[in-house]
Amino acid sequence: MSGTILVLDFGGQYKELIAGMVRSLSVYSEIKPGNITADEIRRIAPTGIIMTGGPNSVYLPGSPRCDSKLFALGIPILGICYGMQMMCHMLGGEVSPGAAGEYGRVLVTPEDSAQKPFLALMSHMDAVTRLPDGFAATARTGSCIAACEDKGRKLYGVQFHPESKHTEGGRGIIESFLHNVCGAAKDYRLDDYIDTQVADIQEKARDKNVLLALSGGVDSSVCAALLSKAIPGQLVCIFVDHGFMRQGEGDEIERVFSKRKLRFIRVNAERRFLAKLKGIADPEAKRKIIGEAFIRVFEEEAAKLGDVPFLAQGTIYPDIVESGGGHGATIKSHHNVGGLPEILAFDGVIEPLAGLFKDEVRALGKKLGLPKSLVNRQPFPGPGLAIRVMGEVTGEKLDILRSADAVLREEIGRMKRKPDQYFAVLTDTRSVGVKGDFRTYDYVIAVRAVTTGDFMTCEYAALPNSVLGRISSRITSEIPAVSRVVYDITSKPPATVEWE
Ligand code: XMP
Repeated sequence: MSGTILVLDFGGQYKELIAGMVRSLSVYSEIKPGNITADEIRRIAPTGIIMTGGPNSVYLPGSPRCDSKLFALGIPILGICYGMQMMCHMLGGEVSPGAAGEYGRVLVTPEDSAQKPFLALMSHMDAVTRLPDGFAATARTGSCIAACEDKGRKLYGVQFHPESKHTEGGRGIIESFLHNVCGAAKDYRLDDYIDTQVADIQEKARDKNVLLALSGGVDSSVCAALLSKAIPGQLVCIFVDHGFMRQGEGDEIERVFSKRKLRFIRVNAERRFLAKLKGIADPEAKRKIIGEAFIRVFEEEAAKLGDVPFLAQGTIYPDIVESGGGHGATIKSHHNVGGLPEILAFDGVIEPLAGLFKDEVRALGKKLGLPKSLVNRQPFPGPGLAIRVMGEVTGEKLDILRSADAVLREEIGRMKRKPDQYFAVLTDTRSVGVKGDFRTYDYVIAVRAVTTGDFMTCEYAALPNSVLGRISSRITSEIPAVSRVVYDITSKPPATVEWE
């Protein structure tokens, strides 16, 4: 690979979008903190730098800054939104609190009359009001300098977000920066990633066995597929079926992986998990009990195996970027299979997906022959349906929810443009209904469907009435224990995606 583009993070929510877009243009990218030193950058020797947006105002004390020596390294820099404001401010220009902030799609007019005006996503209060020496404005909106450049120093700024799909030609702007300004070669390919990881895994594991907790989620599944390609016969996958999977899911996982060159162990532990959850209604208590029981079962199964010195995990690049970036308050204790190495003693941990974004993991899964149903799977919480059954979890309630969820997924699955996540929730409310000539008193199912980019926030999806109607009539007629279907129309915040 002949070059890396560094994406310096100044707190914008778009850093992964930018880095992902760069990679999708066949140029390798990495995300680094905004305060990385010029010395470190010199060591990495990137082909170009992109500075992200962020929620701060440059003239406020304590707002993030890059190392000022960066601008003199001769490496091309593109500053986006806050990145442009910071660059202009640090180089002697002026940034002012915007009298008229711009939010949403705004018409941008290039100074060069040969180029057409275009709509671009803006999201800013402040704006650059005087450019530093050497800079020229290259585009404007009605109220701000929308783009600027100092060609001599290869410094570029855009006030809008070219990484957003709401900016017309945004991808082309990034592409032009990469190829025309940075001269980056288009040589980043997922096939190369597979080759280097296969070699790395082989070198690390040699002839030893590797253990993987396979949940059936996208990351652990792709991890299993990659490992079985690298070290066929040395991989042991333990699939702890806690009984909270969706309809048919456990069997699908078994079908897919028992065909591959690995040892697949399915542990049917539904009874054990349900026994532990008896009488427990509190959501956090349920999550903790399931997390702990999961580790105990995994530990017991691993102990039975004997000689398995390595542990593999499906950690992906955003997990690493996020854990270095500090977290806000814990809203829910997310139960994942991470954290296992603290419990069991292993000689080493193998994380072959640690350099990839989620889209790349999906693409890799396809290249490795995993079925689409697995690779394009929606996010699914570790504790599974146990946190979609409100209150105490029982086998009967799980069966009702599984059937309702299957209907909902089938109906929404037929839509051309689907929400990003959709599922059914079994509420702990019963309501009166009438079926035939009889009064019923049965369960209420809630429909949850959201659109989101990052799952940190979301909007409820406005499902067409026809789809909602079909979901409701099918669930109430096909599942006798349900008397009513309601639609959750809450965004996040204030609600979360999951109900518990
Ligand atoms: P919330 O409910 O926190 O969910 O708004 C945000 C996203 O995370 C998923 N989610 C989980 N994923 N383990 C996971 O791996 C969990 O315990 C968990 N809880 C929620 C949720 O489905 C949504 O996509």
